[in-house]
Amino acid sequence: MSAGELEGKVALVTGGSRGIGLAIAESLAAGGARIAVIGRDGERAKAAAAKLTGSGHCGFSCDVADSEQVKEVLALVESEVGPVDILVNNAGITRDNILLRMKDEEFDEVIAANLKGAFNFTRAAARGMMKRRDGVILNITSVVGLIGNAGQANYAASKAGMIGMTKSVAKELASRGVRCNALAPGFIRTDMTHDLTDAQVEALQGQIPLGRLGETDDIGGVARFLVGPSARYITGQVLAVDGGMVM
Ligand code: NAI
Repeated sequence: MSAGELEGKVALVTGGSRGIGLAIAESLAAGGARIAVIGRDGERAKAAAAKLTGSGHCGFSCDVADSEQVKEVLALVESEVGPVDILVNNAGITRDNILLRMKDEEFDEVIAANLKGAFNFTRAAARGMMKRRDGVILNITSVVGLIGNAGQANYAASKAGMIGMTKSVAKELASRGVRCNALAPGFIRTDMTHDLTDAQVEALQGQIPLGRLGETDDIGGVARFLVGPSARYITGQVLAVDGGMVM
């Protein structure tokens, strides 16, 4: 990867003000892209955008689950930052519970944020990408979407849904010059995994051939590769970045 390979590109990263999304935003910014950071909290999104490498980045407030807000924010991004060349659907939540105790709201909220949210931004951004016959979409799914996880029926369903959507969008938009891939992180140290106990971390490490949980920087560079010119012949793929946990 060369330093300025994303020069002139605009990348929109949902949930980009912390964790994995922030690491992806920083990696794409370091590659020369201008970043639109999308977060539920607009002030935090703006503060995160201001700290990224380079200039021309902006932060925007938006709930990805709300399709009207998504349409409005996309129009705002296109007028303030520029047409979106790269879309990273990273925003996500967990509402874990065992199956028999899982409430309707816990199921619905996770599907709305993780799966519908990715759909909302993909549909909104695809129109311009197809017209320009150029664009890249990267969906941040999870290894849990590939192998399931007890206590996460809602989350695993949302992440498996993203994989089906990735492949469908890849097939539908390939002839219009738009690529779509998924990146499936394993267990990465962020606010999302912050509540794991030492015993849980130790048990998890035993299942990871590379012997450690991942860091957000383990994801940023792979995301940059997948949205960049070196990956121009890759579409419809799911790349696990998980220390070898799932193979
Ligand atoms: P995080 O909780 O630190 O960050 C998630 C971000 O998404 C936050 O900034 C949050 O405000 C934003 N977000 C959530 N719902 C939103 C909504 N409705 N509208 C707008 N923004 C919203 O989590 P983390 O760990 O950085 O996760 C990022 C992505 O990576 C998620 O999709 C997660 O499912 C996925 N992932 C994380 C793994 C991990 O081990 N941390 C493993 C596999 C996947």
